Amino acid sequence: MSMDFFQTYLPLYFRGTAYTIALSFIAIILGVLLGSLLAIMKMSKNPLLSMPAKAYIQVVRGTPLLVQLFIIYYGLYVINIELPDFMSGVITIALNSAAYIAEIIRAGIQAVDKGQMEAARSIGMNHNLAMRQIIYPQALKNILPALGNEFVTLMKESAIISVVGMRDLMFNAQVVAGATYMPFMPYVVAAAFYFVLTTFASKLVELFERRLKQSD
Ligand code: ARG
Repeated sequence: MSMDFFQTYLPLYFRGTAYTIALSFIAIILGVLLGSLLAIMKMSKNPLLSMPAKAYIQVVRGTPLLVQLFIIYYGLYVINIELPDFMSGVITIALNSAAYIAEIIRAGIQAVDKGQMEAARSIGMNHNLAMRQIIYPQALKNILPALGNEFVTLMKESAIISVVGMRDLMFNAQVVAGATYMPFMPYVVAAAFYFVLTTFASKLVELFERRLKQSD
């Protein structure tokens, strides 16, 4: 592998990296919105709300992301909805992630000690006020680091979208492999890019977690 390799192909890797980061970032934001809604629905006592949320979460977590990608990518096409590749990639990853995020949020809320609610109620707060002032702020400390980890997961798992030709980091590694007839090195370089991304993001999450702990 010569200097030439890097000069020629590095821009392709960087472009793919930007695509992967942008897609994961937008997907996790949409995933948090939908995931919060799902979590609240699932915890509801009304089965009309909790049942659909439970079903959605089970189905999404119980089927492969690759299958979901095909259903959305080709499915939208069949019903005459033509979206840019990037958009259907974002939708696929966001819909998938929302199910996992819903569980992160639910677990984060339910992990707050029961005594907190009892104490809040005993000093006269009603249920809603106690949720807002006492439970949610503490739950946030459980939820935020886990969301950071979910973002790291998305950057890796989103490599699957390359199989339908979305131009992410993995796709561009394949382009390089095809152009150079090199079956090995282009993927090692891609792995290095992914590794730097996930290590950097994990470190940020760790730092953030330490900050949250400090205020305890
Ligand atoms: N490899 C898993 C699957 O195919 C990906 C799940 C996505 N994980 C996540 N935390 N969003 O189902």
